[in-house]
Amino acid sequence: MSGEVPGPQRGKAYRGSRITVYYDAQRCIHFAACVRGLPEVFDPARRPWIEAAGAEAGVLAEVVRRCPTGALQYHLEEGEPEMPSVPTVIEPSPDGPLLVRGDLRICGPDGERSETRVALCRCGASANKPFCDGSHGRIGWKSEAHTPGP
Ligand code: SF4
Ligand code: FES
Repeated sequence: MSGEVPGPQRGKAYRGSRITVYYDAQRCIHFAACVRGLPEVFDPARRPWIEAAGAEAGVLAEVVRRCPTGALQYHLEEGEPEMPSVPTVIEPSPDGPLLVRGDLRICGPDGERSETRVALCRCGASANKPFCDGSHGRIGWKSEAHTPGP
């Protein structure tokens, strides 16, 4: 298939010990699962804000997998790549995107690519569709107004 990208690793690379973390700022909507999970590695007040050498590779990979949007990805020098959730899980976040985990093929501006975690825009305002870019907060979008009632 033309334009297919083998994996979701995009963005800026941060090398640690036996692991590289990738951060795609366009897909970060500041859930802060990373900061809560490993504040010694993820510190928005520091530059660079990711210190990938600050934790053991397996521990860091586990926290990266908590990122619901896929803004964070990793590559382990030794060990298995991230396994997708089975079955696929789709969870609407209040006043925000659809959070999806699974063995996904997403058709975006760069063609089709494999993903395991994505946040999909449902407000219509994202400049990075189909991904959420946080614009729902800027426009004050409310999910309740768009949920069919009984
Ligand atoms: S967990 Fe992901 S979406 Fe949330 S702040 Fe960290 S990188 Fe951004
Ligand atoms: S739901 Fe986040 S930008 Fe649309």
